[in-house]
Amino acid sequence: MVETKKVLVAGASGYLGRYAVKEFKARGYFVRALVRNPEKFKTAGPHGEPAVYAIADEIVTGDVTSPESIHGVCKGIDIVFSALGLTSPDEHHSSMEVDYRGNKQILDQALAEKVSKFIYVSVFNEDKMPEVPSIQAHELFVADLKKSGLSWAVVRPNGYFSDMGRFFSMAQSGHMFMVGEGEKKINPIHGGDLAKVCVDAVDGESREIPAGGPDIYTFKETMEMAFAACGKTPWITPLPMWLAEGALMVTGIFNRNLAGLLSFAVEALKFDHIAPAYGTRHLKDFFGELASKK
Ligand SMILES: NC(=O)c1ccc[n+]([C@@H]2O[C@H](COP(=O)([O-])OP(=O)(O)OC[C@H]3O[C@@H](n4cnc5c(N)ncnc54)[C@H](OP(=O)(O)O)[C@@H]3O)[C@@H](O)[C@H]2O)c1
Repeated sequence: MVETKKVLVAGASGYLGRYAVKEFKARGYFVRALVRNPEKFKTAGPHGEPAVYAIADEIVTGDVTSPESIHGVCKGIDIVFSALGLTSPDEHHSSMEVDYRGNKQILDQALAEKVSKFIYVSVFNEDKMPEVPSIQAHELFVADLKKSGLSWAVVRPNGYFSDMGRFFSMAQSGHMFMVGEGEKKINPIHGGDLAKVCVDAVDGESREIPAGGPDIYTFKETMEMAFAACGKTPWITPLPMWLAEGALMVTGIFNRNLAGLLSFAVEALKFDHIAPAYGTRHLKDFFGELASKK
């Protein structure tokens, strides 16, 4: 009899984490979900990510910044998948505390339990943005993972549809600021398509897995598409890069954590982010789905 493999999904209440729970379950895994608040993933998320509370086999409630709350989280686990990270401002915690030290807590337990593979979600183009605090935190963890002795894979997505959803929310308000000229390009990926890439990594040979979606757009085209989905005439005000960077420096004086996260958004607009294409779902349809819910 083939034994059911047990996976820990860390960050299971997030955009990618929910799709990962669903994909692991669809492929026959036993899923233990690590979340801070189980209530949160009883209902669908703001970008259509599924409610997965009912399909997870086990739910562990814990916060990685309180190590005692996640004690034993890897017990009996074969595979760890972590999409756990800080993606919005948190007045109490920094990227270093969550992305690095939080994931390190899980890695230490994975080592003690001798799990067979650890799959971690970091970021694409990390080498072009080495000064961004959240990227530093992700990559410190990646370095520890690589030297841990565990079998590993690092998935490097360029941008999620949920992130592009921010453009949709701004378009709904009728106006958007655009940092720079908006001419840099990206091929973002749907969470469901990315979850397949992540689960494939369990048995795959690749260790570094850059991943994007099927369509390439400039950031400006993405914004215009968001306005079109809302049925509004695009009203976009360009902000020079120097002004955005100045505002970031001022923010940093008052709130370092917020400035750290915003610096990712500003830095990312300086480069193309075209990663190897996976998946079948289109951003235009995603915006259409968001519009149909309003
Ligand atoms: N979004 C993008 O475009 C993008 C692109 C490339 C890479 N990434 C990386 O991919 C990963 C997943 O991104 P996402 O957009 O799916 O993020 P997300 O929706 O914000 O989900 C993050 C998950 O981490 C959990 N988490 C945060 N702090 C925690 C803590 N202290 N203890 C326990 N759990 C905690 C969140 O729990 P709660 O639900 O309780 O908040 C949530 O489940 C992140 O590391 C991100 O940096 C994202």
